[in-house]
Amino acid sequence: MNSLNSDNNLVIVRGLSVSYFQQKKEVPALSEVSFAIPRGSTCALIGPSGCGKSTLLYVLSGLMRPSGGSVMVGGEPPTAPRRSTALILQDYGLLPWKKVAENVGLGLEIRGIKREQRLDRVKRVLQEVGLWELRNRYPSQLSGGQRQRVGIARALAQEPDLLLMDEPFSSLDALTREMLQEQLLQIWKDKRITIIMVTHSIDEAVYLGQQIIVLAGNPGRVLEIVNNPGVGNEGYRDTPEFHQLSTMLRSKLSH
Ligand SMILES: Nc1ncnc2c1ncn2[C@@H]1O[C@H](COP(=O)(O)OP(=O)(O)OP(=O)(O)O)[C@@H](O)[C@H]1O
Ligand SMILES: [Mg+2]
Repeated sequence: MNSLNSDNNLVIVRGLSVSYFQQKKEVPALSEVSFAIPRGSTCALIGPSGCGKSTLLYVLSGLMRPSGGSVMVGGEPPTAPRRSTALILQDYGLLPWKKVAENVGLGLEIRGIKREQRLDRVKRVLQEVGLWELRNRYPSQLSGGQRQRVGIARALAQEPDLLLMDEPFSSLDALTREMLQEQLLQIWKDKRITIIMVTHSIDEAVYLGQQIIVLAGNPGRVLEIVNNPGVGNEGYRDTPEFHQLSTMLRSKLSH
């Protein structure tokens, strides 16, 4: 594990516990979770359903407060939604009555960025994800993969240093999924933003996560943190390292 004290970490989580309250009863979702994410690196969160992956992203994005322990993002506790943190939820959060370009510019509009600057930025990110041609369509006129790219474009328009993604590619077919994984890797290489991604797919975790945090359930805790330095290498998917790591994770997660 990376040192929890290094200045190079954008995210530092120490002894984090989070509980939900249901009919006045405490339901623990995460217990004693600790890890650190270096600035500019990628991390995949993986673990069984209900182990607290989404909860962890909510806490990192400032939408939920910890019940115990501490969380620092960019040197501060994420109490208010942080400007340079972008969160992409599983359903992409697109407004059906707004066109692609309007959806992408939404966050900028809310932040009061001037129209001209907004249009510039929307154009740039739509070109980056290859959707400029489709800017005047409505979300219902797009495929699942295209919708997901609109979600990514909207997050990038915010010019974040931290990108949080909750199972972003899970509802897509295998080929679209691989294409978007490549696109995400390219964006990461170009911009070196810090990416934390929740996934159910072992292959996706190994392909994209320089650190893989394996969580166990009831309540959610860290089972293991695996370093995965091959991420971003040409042809990584076809290497023995990739397959060994996938096999190792598969056996851990099946116990
Ligand atoms: N609003 C809520 N009230 C009570 N308990 C909740 C609430 N939301 C989540 N939980 C519980 O907290 C635990 C963690 O939920 P969370 O959604 O973070 O899991 P997850 O790892 O993202 O699961 P999945 O892989 O199915 O998305 C689960 O046991 C869940 O039932
Ligand atoms: Mg979830």
